[in-house]
Parts: sequence; C-alpha cells; structure tokens
Amino acid sequence: MTLLEKPALNSCCTVAAVLLTLALSAPGSIAQARDRQEIGPLPEKAPPSAALVEMGRRLFFDVRVSGDGAISCATCHDPGQGFTRQLDKERQPMALSDAYPGTRHFRNAPTLINVAHKADFSDAGWGWDGHMGANLNDVIRDQITETMMMNMDMRLMHERMKQDPVYVQMCQENFNGECSSGKGRKALDAFMQTLVSKDVPFDQGTLSGEAELGRILFEGKAGCIGCHSGPYFSDGEPHNTGVPENLDVFQDPLRHVTYRAVLTNHGVPKADIWRRDVGYFLVSKDYRDVGSFITPTLRETAHTAPYMHNGMFQTLEEVVAFYVAGGGHDDPLATELQPLDLDRSEQAQLVAFVRALSSPEAPTVEKVEIPLEYEPIDNWLEVRN
Ligand code: HEC
Ligand code: HEC
Repeated sequence: MTLLEKPALNSCCTVAAVLLTLALSAPGSIAQARDRQEIGPLPEKAPPSAALVEMGRRLFFDVRVSGDGAISCATCHDPGQGFTRQLDKERQPMALSDAYPGTRHFRNAPTLINVAHKADFSDAGWGWDGHMGANLNDVIRDQITETMMMNMDMRLMHERMKQDPVYVQMCQENFNGECSSGKGRKALDAFMQTLVSKDVPFDQGTLSGEAELGRILFEGKAGCIGCHSGPYFSDGEPHNTGVPENLDVFQDPLRHVTYRAVLTNHGVPKADIWRRDVGYFLVSKDYRDVGSFITPTLRETAHTAPYMHNGMFQTLEEVVAFYVAGGGHDDPLATELQPLDLDRSEQAQLVAFVRALSSPEAPTVEKVEIPLEYEPIDNWLEVRN
C-alpha cells in the first residue's frame, strides 16, 4: 500500500463509521445492537448430567414423539448429515425441509450443532428469522406440537412415555418420578447442550497459511466480521443479504400452504398475497425487515450444505461469490454489503478460513435403535437412515 492510499482509506472508514452510528441510532425495528465481539473460542459450559442426555438422545431418535409415529427429530436434523437434512430418500439434494407427512416446509432445516450457544449470542429468537420462540424449551415444544412439524399432543407424548419401561426407568433415575412431556423436553434440551463443536482448527490455532490469509480478509476488506462476529460467528441480528427466493415455496402447494399457515399464525398483514419469504418481518411487522434473516453461525458449515434459509446455495464457494457480487438484489439491502474486490485466490482463502471453522469430520452421535411393534407408514421422509 502506498502512503497516499492510507488517508483515503481512513476517510472512507470515517464516513462508514458515521453512517453506521446513524444506522444504529435511527429508530430501529430491532433490539439495540450488541457491541461487536471478537471472533474466538466458544465459552465453556457446565455439561448436563449424562443420564439426562441419554434420555434426550433416545427421544431425539424416537419416531413415537410424532403424532403418527413416523418421524423423529433426527429425520430432519440427521446426525449423519450435519444435524440437518441435505439429501432426500433418493439421495437428491434437499434445499427445503420436508415436514409432517402430508405437508412440506418452506425453509432449510438448520443444523443443531452449537444451538446450545445460540441464546448466548442472540436475542432475536430461534429459527432462521427468529419466529420460533424465545428459548430452546419453547422451540422444542413447538417442534413437537406444531401440526406441520411433529403434530403431537403433549398429553399423548406423556402417555407414550409412561408406556415404555425404558422411559419409566429413565424418568425415575433423572427426576425421581413419573414421566411427563415436560421432563421429555428437558431431556431433549440436555441432549442438544452436548451438540457442541468447539475444537476446530480455528480454535486450536492451526490455521493453514491459506486460511490465515482468509482470516485477514474476513476481518478486513471482505467485511464478513460486520455480521459474523463473536465466538459464534454471528451478531444475532437480522440482516437482508438479498438471497434469491426459492420459488418452490410458492409453486409447490404443500410448501405454500405451510408458509401461509405460519404467516397467518403470526398475524402477518395480507398473509395471502406475499410471494416472497418475509423473514424477520414475521416477528417485527416492520416493513424494513422484509427479507431479513438472523446471521447464522459459520461453525461447522463445511458439513451443513446447502446454505441460507432456503438452501439456494450448494457450496461455500457459491456463497462467497454471492458476497463478492455485493449480495443479492433487494431494497433495503444491508448497508454492510458492497461488491468486493477479491480475486480468485482471495476468494479461495476466504473459503479456506470458513472451512477452518469446521471439524475435519462432521460431528455426529450414535443412533439409538428403538424396536417398534408397528411399521411406520411409508412417506417421502425416509424414516430409517
Ligand atoms: C419435519 C422436519 C423437522 C422435524 C421433525 C424437526 N425439525 Fe427442528 N427444524 C426444522 C426446520 C425446517 C427448522 C427451521 C424453521 C424456520 O427457521 O422457519 C427447524 C428449526 C429447529 C431449531 C432452531 C435452530 C436454530 O438455529 O434456531 C431447533 C432447536 C430444532 N429445530 C430442534 C428440533 C427438535 C429438538 C426436534 C424434535 C423434537 C425437531 N427440531 C424436529 C425441521 C424439523
Ligand atoms: C450484512 C451482514 C452480513 C455480512 C456482511 C456477511 N454475512 Fe454471511 N450471512 C448473513 C445472513 C443474514 C445470512 C443468512 C441469510 C439467509 O439465510 O437468507 C448469512 C449466511 C452466510 C452463510 C451461510 C450459512 C448457512 O448456514 O447457511 C455463509 C457461509 C456466510 N454467510 C459467509 C459469509 C462470508 C464469508 C462473509 C464475508 C464475505 C459474509 N458472510 C458476510 C449476514 C452477513
């Protein structure tokens, strides 16, 4: 860099800083922005009791937690696929999740790795747009009871647990009492507390030379740190990056009907006419938030393709190319996004850094085999992987 370039850079950044201050002090639709945190290792947390985790692991794989006894949490958050669902029964890529048999979902199934840390770094709520509730227990309850998810009545869950001697014994051991659906939710929560990845090359300080150059770009001229900040690589805030719509949501009636139901349940104005994913608007009802999604973590993303709320990008290379183009087309697009002057090798460095936030092998857990006395109905969700 020449000496002449330096003041120019400074003046650009002063303007950017002023704009940023204005943006933050404007009557915002979202909670006060947190101070930007340094990227770094995830904090230590006290592990939940092993016996409770074991109970949660069993429930996680148990199809009897769903109304018709056909799907479990693991159907959509498959431990063999980065705790998301990337491939359908025919091993074809799946951008959008399926849902309760007979319906389909309009969002990509997010990973559950590190969800235990999400609440520490975000006030915006759960799910891609924060509409899924304020705490993990609410999310678990909703996933179980929502008609389009597992369509289960909590009283029935209670009964089914009481009829299985394994759960009866587990409830006795963990709670010194009878099973209940609430105890089941506590166990699922405990299980998810253990799905933590905090020992990736970045945490170990073993970045390759290429990834180290990528880190400098990430924190510097690529500007990723503007939103993917802190140990969770997320500021926990909604932003509009202009990801193109996945038209399947509007062309597949089974997806569209699910989308409409969620809009209606959340009191979104004119729920019947939206032909785009409204994102955080669902929560805030502020038109400036249409198309905003909460910054996702970048940890373990090497194992969770496809990307974005609607699975529109297949590879990390595609995601980086999207940012190089300045994001997508929308108004208002996040002010942080500008076309980036990154050549091919710099783009590869950025990808190498993002990959260094993932374990070499996808984290997984061992499946619990639960013998069933019935054959679950056949549907497009492959029940047994
Ligand atoms: C039929 C598929 C399906 C099933 C079954 C399912 N999920 Fe999900 N899950 C999803 C989808 C899709 C989303 C994202 C929804 C959105 O953002 O609109 C999600 C979101 C979540 C989130 C929020 C993650 C985040 O980063 O905010 C958690 C936690 C979660 N699920 C846990 C569970 C648990 C626990 C179960 C079992 C009790 C379960 N899910 C069952 C599809 C499923
Ligand atoms: C303006 C804030 C912002 C900036 C700057 C930003 N991101 Fe993002 N990023 C997001 C949001 C929001 C999403 C989710 C968008 C969606 O789902 O529609 C996302 C999604 C991603 C994903 C997909 C994660 C997943 O699980 O699907 C990757 C990878 C990613 N960003 C990497 C980067 C990189 C690399 C940079 C720098 C070149 C960057 N981001 C800059 C806000 C930002």
